[in-house]
Amino acid sequence: MKFIHMSDIHLSRPGRLVEGLDPHARLAQALSHMTQHHADASHLVITGDLTHFGEPEAYAAVRDALEGFPIPVRLMMGNHDKRAPFVQAFPDVPQAPQGFVHYAEDLPAGRFVYCDTTEPETHQGHFCEARVAWLDQQLAGAETAFVFFHHNPLHLGDPATDELSIRDQDQPALHAVLKRHKSTVRHLFFGHVHEPLCGTLAGIPFSGVPSTMHQVIPDLNSASLSGSAPLEPSYRVVLLRGEDIVIHQIPFAYDGEIIWHGNGFDDWA
Ligand SMILES: [Fe+2]
Repeated sequence: MKFIHMSDIHLSRPGRLVEGLDPHARLAQALSHMTQHHADASHLVITGDLTHFGEPEAYAAVRDALEGFPIPVRLMMGNHDKRAPFVQAFPDVPQAPQGFVHYAEDLPAGRFVYCDTTEPETHQGHFCEARVAWLDQQLAGAETAFVFFHHNPLHLGDPATDELSIRDQDQPALHAVLKRHKSTVRHLFFGHVHEPLCGTLAGIPFSGVPSTMHQVIPDLNSASLSGSAPLEPSYRVVLLRGEDIVIHQIPFAYDGEIIWHGNGFDDWA
């Protein structure tokens, strides 16, 4: 099974740049690249920050961009998103009674669990008791699971970024659930960080994906500011093959020279 993980597309009201970049052009470029190279993917998961300012026009632009896209799409909320316009633009995305945009689905490789880590009016991640209980329930009923968050569910050692992870007081209960279902959860995927990241949480592998827009420059010393720059954007292609998981990072916007060579020994000279 093959699926795509993309994050933090930060769409604006059409015509408005974000951090000096055009999010609409970037999204169009990414979707076109996927259609051309990965149309056989089962689905595309966008782990939040669909918009930058949360305007209804920005959600309409997301909807328009995805109209007719041949790969099924799963949408999640990020800290830059706003629930009301999100739900208005995407009424078919499941919403829990408490208002959380979280849901799960069973696919050939296992259960895909899409969590809502957002809280209105804050960039920090939240994972309250109700969400912990919901996640516990989703994992209890699965043999194999892949879990998606917007916010990073653990500290990364980058003080300014860690201020905006899932908040400190919510991490222990979340980690406890993940540990309890360690034999079920195969991988944790998240966005929010705008940088290529991998590691483990309680022994469970995780990966954070770059944005299709600006990228964060990791700074393991500064506690107050985090820096970003218009570095190469990308999305990830995830191959699930039995017990193995392979994740490719695709630099979809690169338009420079590519040097091609064969696999013969002399071709590498
Ligand atoms: Fe973001």
